[in-house]
Amino acid sequence: MNAPFNASRGAASLRDSFSAYVCDEATADLLRPIAVEHGWAPEKVNKGGLRNAVQSLSVSASPNILFVDLSESGDPLNDINALAEVCEPGTVVIAAGQVNDVRLYRDLVASGIQDYLLKPFTPDQVRDAFAHAQMTISGPRVNEPSVERPHVMAAVIGVRGGVGASTIATSLAWLMGDKAGRSTALLDLDIHFGTGALALDLEPGRGLTDAIENPSRIDGLFIERAMVRANDKLSVLSAEAPINQPLLTDGSAFFQLQEEMRAAFETTIIDLPRSMLVQHPHLVNDAHVAVVVVEFTLAATRDAIRILSWLKANAPQSRVLVVANKAASGSQQEISRGEFEKSIERKVDIVIPLDAKVAAQTAKLGQPLAKTATNAKIAQPLAQLVTLTISAVDGSSESPEEATTSLLGKLGNLKGLVAKKPKPGDA
Ligand SMILES: Nc1ncnc2c1ncn2[C@@H]1O[C@H](COP(=O)(O)OP(=O)(O)O)[C@@H](O)[C@H]1O
Ligand SMILES: [Mg+2]
Repeated sequence: MNAPFNASRGAASLRDSFSAYVCDEATADLLRPIAVEHGWAPEKVNKGGLRNAVQSLSVSASPNILFVDLSESGDPLNDINALAEVCEPGTVVIAAGQVNDVRLYRDLVASGIQDYLLKPFTPDQVRDAFAHAQMTISGPRVNEPSVERPHVMAAVIGVRGGVGASTIATSLAWLMGDKAGRSTALLDLDIHFGTGALALDLEPGRGLTDAIENPSRIDGLFIERAMVRANDKLSVLSAEAPINQPLLTDGSAFFQLQEEMRAAFETTIIDLPRSMLVQHPHLVNDAHVAVVVVEFTLAATRDAIRILSWLKANAPQSRVLVVANKAASGSQQEISRGEFEKSIERKVDIVIPLDAKVAAQTAKLGQPLAKTATNAKIAQPLAQLVTLTISAVDGSSESPEEATTSLLGKLGNLKGLVAKKPKPGDA
């Protein structure tokens, strides 16, 4: 009998648990015993790579777990999209290939691939990928949100060291959990000197260092094990990597971490040192919100201009929130709020006052500034930051002023600003 095209589509009971389409005998030899370990027939490992997969699956049901070898594919991304057309929803696809390129990896993941194994890979990497796939199929992930709430990802960037970016990132993350009731991940990307864990009186553990050394291990289970819990709603991933150990990564670990956090939490707050922006610009690609922390100094003005302009080009999808921290009263400040706003050609969204006493107490207690600060002068702007951050995603109306275009041109005018700094006798 002639079966109509894709007649079995959607019939879950007819699905195989597993099939693989590989390009070479070595890969087939590696996969067969692992298939057997999982109770799958070794014959499910087919030759012919991606092309054969597309052909076979166009006339049969797709399996629960599909392994495809992209080695012979000239245009992997295009071919994966062809595969998507013949795959039923629910099939978990693991790809393998020889191209080591974080952009390809990103694009593949964005097209729905669960994992990409770089050849040559080890049996353990395959086992990990299968375990991850089985976990995806078998049900809810860690911390699965009970209510459907869109994920919020915010990157907190200090325009200079010491402006209080980490203080604000920690407080924002804590408030997201404690006040907004959202399960939240705090990802501290100051790998060597991060304070994400310290600020919450926690040990950072080895999770983040392991993730960077071994990006292919990052999955839902890894996230669950590696993240340190600060409380019911807040988990932290932070490191104190040895300072004789330079950071060696192409950034794929960070991308993978963002992916997994997106799946496991309702909010991701990234403490993102500006040096990481230079090294890994793709880190902000998926951020809904970029919190740019500044202070009212000349140097911070210069770097705010540069970073705001950079964000315009590199994170056009992000809502940018400018937070001025450590604001003091008039004469104690290098430049005024008005001068600062004129230079960056936009308004400051939130101002947090300088309060050395509360800051010191915060550090001593090992808790977020937002928790120590009962003072409304600090609590209120922090609460506003939470509201603005969430509203960037849930579409509510509050939209802070957007920056205008010619920011970098302003850099030339900084000298003018110096000249304008109050001289003795000025009002
Ligand atoms: N509003 C504030 N008032 C006084 N001190 C603050 C304030 N915000 C942060 N600090 C202090 O500034 C120092 C640097 O903060 P941190 O968050 O580590 O900065 P960054 O991450 O930007 O380098 C810390 O000692 C912190 O307690
Ligand atoms: Mg910091």
